[in-house]
Amino acid sequence: MAQKNKLQKFAELNTFKNVYQNPFHENPILTDHTGEQIDMKGQWHKHFGNKNPITLELACGGGEYTLAMGKDYPNRNFIGIDIKGNRIWKGARVALAEGQDNVAFLRSRIEFIEHFFEKGEVQEIWITFADPQLKKARKRLTSPIFLDRYRKFLAEDNLMHLKTDSPVLYEYTLEVIEEQKLELLYENSDIYAQPLVYPELRFKTFYEKMHLEDKRTIKYIQYKL
Ligand SMILES: C[S@@+](CC[C@H](N)C(=O)[O-])C[C@H]1O[C@@H](n2cnc3c(N)ncnc32)[C@H](O)[C@@H]1O
Repeated sequence: MAQKNKLQKFAELNTFKNVYQNPFHENPILTDHTGEQIDMKGQWHKHFGNKNPITLELACGGGEYTLAMGKDYPNRNFIGIDIKGNRIWKGARVALAEGQDNVAFLRSRIEFIEHFFEKGEVQEIWITFADPQLKKARKRLTSPIFLDRYRKFLAEDNLMHLKTDSPVLYEYTLEVIEEQKLELLYENSDIYAQPLVYPELRFKTFYEKMHLEDKRTIKYIQYKL
């Protein structure tokens, strides 16, 4: 039954106008809701119908951050990116039902991200509860390999945000920031120990809620590339 549900979600996902997908996983190609191949690089303003600044949520899962920020910031655009179609389906369905036109989703491996955005097209990146990849540092979404991918499309005036429960990912990201002499704007290894400094931190993802139930502390880093 669970499998059937998943297949139904995939079929629906293919028809969602706010979703672009990389159907092959091994090729950086996107299709839209008509099933046609589409090049979105430098073209996102056409999807949104405006040139408002774009924020990405990487490893977005069900897109809780993307949806919440979309509501809080109607004059910005938000794109949630994840490889798992059944998770993206969740967020994309809510955005459509609620008429959140400033929210879209991209189903792809994040390894291909530089193929989908033009230089300067994205202003902010949020990384929410990404896998800490305990055995392979190079696979971490804040590793130098990934930062080089983001540099290809981030605006000069950019912001990076990492929210995580993982001490390993938190410490590792701080090390990369120091090694690369990046501008560290804020870091906190236990954000809920005092009043929140940034209001967006109040949003909680699916995984964050689970981690909080497990009494894990939530960490946050804000920096510039
Ligand atoms: C721990 S979940 C977090 C989901 C969501 N941000 C949350 O907090 O509820 C990590 C997510 O990263 C996605 N993911 C992992 N590696 C990825 C990759 N290389 N490209 C795209 N998505 C990836 C998984 O599919 C999964 O949904």
